[in-house]
Amino acid sequence: MATMESLIELVNRIQRACTVLGDYGGDSALPTLWEALPTVAVVGGQSSGKSSVLESIVGRDFLPRGSGIVTRRPLVLQLHKTEQGIQEYAEFLHLPMKKILDFSVVRKEIQDETDRMTGRSKQISSIPIHLSIYSPNVVNLTLIDLPGLTKVAVEGQPDSIVEDIENMVRSYIEKPNCIILAITPANQDIATSDAIKLAREVDPTGERTFGVLTKLDLMDKGTNALDVLEGRSYRLQHPWVGIVNRSQADINKNVDMLASRRREREFFATSPEYGHLTSKMGSEYLAKLLSKQLEAVIKARIPGIASLINRSIGELETELDQLGRPVAIDAGARLYTILELCRAFDRVFKEHLD
Ligand code: GDP
Ligand code: NA
Ligand code: MG
Repeated sequence: MATMESLIELVNRIQRACTVLGDYGGDSALPTLWEALPTVAVVGGQSSGKSSVLESIVGRDFLPRGSGIVTRRPLVLQLHKTEQGIQEYAEFLHLPMKKILDFSVVRKEIQDETDRMTGRSKQISSIPIHLSIYSPNVVNLTLIDLPGLTKVAVEGQPDSIVEDIENMVRSYIEKPNCIILAITPANQDIATSDAIKLAREVDPTGERTFGVLTKLDLMDKGTNALDVLEGRSYRLQHPWVGIVNRSQADINKNVDMLASRRREREFFATSPEYGHLTSKMGSEYLAKLLSKQLEAVIKARIPGIASLINRSIGELETELDQLGRPVAIDAGARLYTILELCRAFDRVFKEHLD
């Protein structure tokens, strides 16, 4: 009997293989296949805590964070759950076969690869960086970190940047397969949340939007976020999740992930206002919630994905037949990999039905 986990992992691998193949063009059913598979994207204003939330979901420090526009290219991050005992490592699509064990090297490479495309300016690029993390301590998920929405261009940025970023973010979150994490800082007025505004535009019923309220620790004394967290200010289909990420001071002091999670748990457990919500708050809860949602989405989409995969198998076989060797040997090998993955998915899917 196949597990849901093995299906999600297969979906992950097909997505990754499609990405690699994407570089080679080709006009198979693959782009459609990619869009049928679920992903999770963060959307929110600049410095609302998007990169910090993603890091906590992964449980590792590896993303560039900070004030101002730090994330300047989309980062497509695939988490692959491995067996216990295997050492965690990361791999970039643009550095194939290079296993990176040191996560500070990952952060540096994201920065360098961003600069390679945009220069050391405040420019943005819509060309994504692809990163995979293999670890026994993650759930199978594809996460997308995006540049923050902004209201005005700053020195060194073209006037069009406000719209450019919005369009880039929209192009990811408008896909019906995208689960949206709408990141809103608790120390700002939720009515003006750019995240909620854009999420509502592409997902009016809120079925694939999760409201994430960050910076609960930074609220003014005597105020609290219960109206939001309990769904009175802005009701979403899924309940809001409150988060306490590391502050800039914590980052500067190198407070590690374990310590910061412990502090987050303590924050909720000991809070007079949020104590009763403890079991439904925090980064670890959010990660579990997302994994569950992803499972539900995949389950609901299995018939659609399966028939698409069936079609892809046919198209891939034709495409492979038509490829002249040796010119396109690379593309051929990759097509073949995807074909194998699709066949594996088909097998697992059929077992799943039994
Ligand atoms: P992004 O621009 O949306 O990706 O936001 P970042 O994750 O880079 O965070 C921006 C800044 O806000 C950093 O200095 C973080 O340390 C800080 N920050 C993010 N979330 C929180 C939070 O929950 N509490 C506190 N105190 N600071 C936070
Ligand atoms: Na930032
Ligand atoms: Mg960021």
